[in-house]
Amino acid sequence: MNDLATPISHTKPLQHSDWTIPQAWHTYSAQDHAVWDKLFTRQSEMLPGRAATAFLEGLDILRLTKPGIPDFDELNERLLRATGWQVVAVPGLVPDDVFFDHLANRQFVAGRFIRRPDQLDYLEEPDIFHDVFGHVPLLANPVFADYMQAYGKGGQRAGAQGAIDQLARLYWYTVEFGLVRDGSGLKIFGAGIVSSYGESRFALDARSPHRIEFDLRRVMRTRYRIDDYQQCYFVINSFDDLLRQTLETDFAPLYHANELLPVLDITTLLPSDRVVTHGTQDDVHSRGRVPNVK
Ligand code: PHE
Ligand code: FE
Repeated sequence: MNDLATPISHTKPLQHSDWTIPQAWHTYSAQDHAVWDKLFTRQSEMLPGRAATAFLEGLDILRLTKPGIPDFDELNERLLRATGWQVVAVPGLVPDDVFFDHLANRQFVAGRFIRRPDQLDYLEEPDIFHDVFGHVPLLANPVFADYMQAYGKGGQRAGAQGAIDQLARLYWYTVEFGLVRDGSGLKIFGAGIVSSYGESRFALDARSPHRIEFDLRRVMRTRYRIDDYQQCYFVINSFDDLLRQTLETDFAPLYHANELLPVLDITTLLPSDRVVTHGTQDDVHSRGRVPNVK
């Protein structure tokens, strides 16, 4: 669970200075497990043909020996073998520096709670379904796994440079809401999309949002909103390309250059944008309802 989008909640660390707590898998109720199974089935049926190949391949890592919410002990054995990553439970949102330190050490922080049955389509805070279903499959992919660690290290540097807002936008438009060119066309890979019943269709099918070729500088100056489906998505060419570009670029000069430029609204298109689809921008406030797709 990351707190880049949301104000820090002042939850006290319960056990460790790194804010982690035991998952306590045996304490989940039958209802909790049923919510997971329902969401898992619904999303995994929807995603073939929509989600990036690497995501679909990574989904198998979540098919554990027991049904219901994944037990992190069993999941981590597999994830460690695949890419050296681990999932650790936290009580809620954690401060930026704690989040970055975990990523830099190949640890992904996940909320341990799950939404209620009346919140299947939308809830405001990321729960274990978003954090684990949305994020873990790509952490099993070696290239994406390296990107996430590099991002954590980049966060440690950005903190010192007062540039966390800019770096958070990169996370938002890739890790959470990214599209990728894959096979015959665009596919979804961002965790916020793949874990959402409505947005996993909206992101590809709706006429409303802009879809723009990924450009590092441009992304880091694009505002985002957390209370609607995105009205602007960025399209990467491949995970290799994303990793290479971000690793090979020293962000410090970009942060400085961007500070002198206005932050861009979601609806703005620049003459320099390589536009994939020019959105109609007419289907807003769509969270938690079925999107208007043609
Ligand atoms: N290269 C970035 C920097 O100079 C770090 C980074 C790598 C950020 C990968 C995001 C992803 O800070
Ligand atoms: Fe997330």
